[in-house]
Amino acid sequence: MIPDSFIQDLKASCDIEDIVSGYVKLTRKGKNLVGLCPFHSEKTGSFFIYPQTQSFYCFGCGAGGDTISFLKRIENLDYAEAVRLLAQKAGVPVPEDSMDDSGARLKARTLEINRETARFYHQCLVSDVGKDAYRYLIERGRTPKIIRRFGLGYAPDDWNSLVDHLKSKGFREEEMVASGICGRTKKGGLYDRFRGRVIFPIIDLRGNVVAFGGRAMGERGPKYLNSSDTPVFKKSKNLFALNFAKASKAPNLILAEGYMDVIAIHQAGFDNAVATLGTSLTEEQARIIAQYTDTIIIAYDSDNAGQAATKRAINIFSEVGVKVNVLTIPDAKDPDEYLKKFGPERFQMLLEGCTNALEFEIAKIRNKYDVSTADGKVSFLKDFARLLADIRNPLEREVYLTKTAEELGVAPAAITAQINSIQKGRKNAQAKKEKNDTSIYIGDIASVRKDMDRKRNLKYAVAEEHIIEILMKNPDYVPHFIKQCAPSEFVTEVNREIVTLLCDRIQAHRSVEPMALSADLSEEAMDRLSGILASETIQRADRTQLDEYIRILKEHGQQRSEQEIRDMDPDEYLRYVESLKARKS
Ligand code: UTP
Ligand code: MN
Repeated sequence: MIPDSFIQDLKASCDIEDIVSGYVKLTRKGKNLVGLCPFHSEKTGSFFIYPQTQSFYCFGCGAGGDTISFLKRIENLDYAEAVRLLAQKAGVPVPEDSMDDSGARLKARTLEINRETARFYHQCLVSDVGKDAYRYLIERGRTPKIIRRFGLGYAPDDWNSLVDHLKSKGFREEEMVASGICGRTKKGGLYDRFRGRVIFPIIDLRGNVVAFGGRAMGERGPKYLNSSDTPVFKKSKNLFALNFAKASKAPNLILAEGYMDVIAIHQAGFDNAVATLGTSLTEEQARIIAQYTDTIIIAYDSDNAGQAATKRAINIFSEVGVKVNVLTIPDAKDPDEYLKKFGPERFQMLLEGCTNALEFEIAKIRNKYDVSTADGKVSFLKDFARLLADIRNPLEREVYLTKTAEELGVAPAAITAQINSIQKGRKNAQAKKEKNDTSIYIGDIASVRKDMDRKRNLKYAVAEEHIIEILMKNPDYVPHFIKQCAPSEFVTEVNREIVTLLCDRIQAHRSVEPMALSADLSEEAMDRLSGILASETIQRADRTQLDEYIRILKEHGQQRSEQEIRDMDPDEYLRYVESLKARKS
């Protein structure tokens, strides 16, 4: 027996918050902490930790107790084992003679057998007896490094290699049978369960080898054989590769169907993939996943079975409050094959939600720049705008524009302005070409049109120009301005382009010197800006003035007649709706 005094001291030296937070994401609520209960399914947290009394209680399912009862429940341990685990976590040695509990002893022996077995199978794989299996793995694209990392092995194709090996290491027959790795014949002899198979060891969160999966190399027998449940292993409560994935820096986990998929994904550099173990996803597994991520990416096989399994998994995840992204894998049957055919970069793009050619193109230019820097962002947006300028369907354009703008944290209008200026530029070029072709002078169509735009909306255009002038002189007014007015509310196209760029740059703490702006502004916009700066119309460029011009500008839009709205082209209409929204908020 473990002495009571030891247990008291141990409990006193551990903080329940530290222990529980290893399993449950906790948030502070006053003196206490709250999280999603790991013992039942829930979407809002009713699982409370009370540091003052070093206890927990779930208002949903009624589970409660102290640190040791928590470990007992969550790790499926008996009392003595929970104490030992707690001691191990606290780094305190448990007094000797505590190993008298036979259940714990058997578990400990099973783990030793498993470890020895994994070592033996790996040794076989890298020695002569396993050379076909090794070649099989290499031919399937696995590297020696990943083979080592996952401790893959080979079970020789005979009935007692492992039995003999374990006997030589001093393990008893009952222990070997209990570990599930050996079977007993009717006559009472032992035999190896895995024969002639590639072995995938399954490792739990504490680094213990708890089970094995074995893949046939030929057509003989079932394709995969998995350990049955043992004193140290429950299929329904474990996930393959979670021991690696839990340490991943990636924000999500990827759930694949098979061992090989997971290994292929890890090999490609994504260390956040896991799989279930020869069964479909269980609620317990989903709950474990919920402890590590808010969003799971399901990357099941693309066949019907995989799609059906995806549907089931989506339901289970919704039960436990995990958001689901589904990876559709085009032109390959599973992630393993996809990676082999298209490589890690394309897979990364799939992960980022690429499903069609346009998304693929967007992702490609996105990879070209470091969008976390302002310069990278600007360069990306330029390419991006060029891409979108080619898209005729305004709705499609709008979808990608909004999505990308949101991801990059820039105003959609900034991109619209770029697109417009590109399209105008193209029209210009076209017009010039026509001009040259026909030798008839028709003037600069774009600038004429823009002048018309200004004349038609003169009242607002003037207000806009004053606003631009004030903001150029007082960049610190920009936050105040943006709170009241979205750049997209500017009525005239050219001024809208200018103010959008201005706001973006000021918010990014970049210079708004006219020279610095010229690279990003269309020719007309640059002309207009120079005009504004040259005329220096306002003497008093203060906040009250600014507010007054904003007020004038806001009158617009309120006055659009039904006829006007009907006449708008789709772009204009979207902008109008956006401006109404901006006004409401
Ligand atoms: P798959 O048949 O898709 O195999 O089963 P796979 O993982 O793609 O394997 P490779 O690429 O052909 O080697 C997916 C998972 O279902 C379980 C295994 O866990 C497997 O990884 N399974 C499959 C079994 O448990 N038994 C089987 O006979 C087949
Ligand atoms: Mn598969």
